[in-house]
Amino acid sequence: MVVPGDKSISHRAAILNALALGPATVENFLVGEDTRATLECLGALGVSWSLEEDRGLGPILRIHGPGRAGLRESEDVLDARNSGTTMRLLSGVLAAYPFLSILTGDSSLRLRPMGRVVEPLREMGAQVWGRGDGAYPPLAIRGGELRGIRYRMPVASAQVKSALLLAGLLAQGETAVEEPAPTRDHTERMLRAMGARLSREGGLVRIEPLEGELSPLDLRVPGDVSAAAFWMVAAAVHPDAELRLPGVGVNPTRSGVIDVLRSMGAELEVTEEREQGGEPVADITVRSSRLAPVEVSGDLVPRLIDEIPVLAVAAALTPGRTVVRDAAELRVKESDRIVTTCRELRRLGARIEELPDGLAIDGVEFLTGAHCQSHDDHRLAMALGVAGLLARGETVIEGAGAAEVSYPGFWSDLAGLASSAAGGPASGEGEQVKGVARRGSET
Ligand code: S3P
Repeated sequence: MVVPGDKSISHRAAILNALALGPATVENFLVGEDTRATLECLGALGVSWSLEEDRGLGPILRIHGPGRAGLRESEDVLDARNSGTTMRLLSGVLAAYPFLSILTGDSSLRLRPMGRVVEPLREMGAQVWGRGDGAYPPLAIRGGELRGIRYRMPVASAQVKSALLLAGLLAQGETAVEEPAPTRDHTERMLRAMGARLSREGGLVRIEPLEGELSPLDLRVPGDVSAAAFWMVAAAVHPDAELRLPGVGVNPTRSGVIDVLRSMGAELEVTEEREQGGEPVADITVRSSRLAPVEVSGDLVPRLIDEIPVLAVAAALTPGRTVVRDAAELRVKESDRIVTTCRELRRLGARIEELPDGLAIDGVEFLTGAHCQSHDDHRLAMALGVAGLLARGETVIEGAGAAEVSYPGFWSDLAGLASSAAGGPASGEGEQVKGVARRGSET
């Protein structure tokens, strides 16, 4: 099973190359709703790009950076749709440009906290307005000359860190961002590869103002470990499966799901480790496993925050009590994932409880297919798809199309796995799933 390109790296490959001077080619770019939102915003800001599909290489983004002074005021509101990464990273960029930008998004994004980027950007000298005094989108930004600051983030957020590093790139003086726990470091890796002066000491990342221009960066985006996580769980929990996932990103700031599945006892092999686009990549093989419960908390949480809904599916079918703590950030994702994961997995018979900052899950012997909802949250839709694949009977997921945000081929990949065994998926309203992936049914 080949998973699509990494969402976080695709956003950054587009945004950072849009700030550089000259053309760049990005292979295996994720063409999802979120990354399309980023590309359309960049287009509105005067950046030219095109997408093409190559049978062998996957989607290819060609983007021509106009240089640091090249962005232009957009004629229209910039629509980040469902994408927090688009809104927060672009806020950091646009804070440095002396024109007006208005950023909005869909009903979910308009409820997500923006004060975490607005406050430090104001401290750097940008004028930023938003609903609730900058707490929520839409945001209006009139950027200009920024000054570097030293900022300790109250929450561990790669989006906030990245926004401030991007603003810092075009500010006067050094910008230093301190993270309370390690978060994904794709921005730092890519900025360095493009010639920015960036250093790290423990949890403190420093960036110096850009001298000259950023160099464009050609890269091949690794497979998305967050997408691979759905299949890792499906194969580990299924009684008779073996699945190989080639070319998956295994950046240590993202690989918490691998660590947790292994500590649960999953038969999970990581082989052929190599580097691709400045990121570690490997092939992952997962086999049916006898899982045991775990506790997930502390610094591990930001390393697997997006994988918690699907880990909850694994825990729901693992005898004993699995507990996730220190994950209150789940409440401000595309949905309140503590509430929605509990509500929807309970419909399938899971024994799962809300904690203020996480989940407590008591494994049951089997899940039972049910009618459930995605709450327009891509990761919940896909986690429910995996739950439906593993459950007895038929599952119907309303709003299954949300998967398009990060994994456009998800339902056909799932159907492929399901039909590689007897039965195959049913079709009809919403998205219905049943069937299994059998040992040897590598796709
Ligand atoms: C992302 C960072 C994480 C993650 C999100 C993507 C990124 O969010 O949950 O899906 O690309 O930087 P936070 O920055 O809020 O932790």
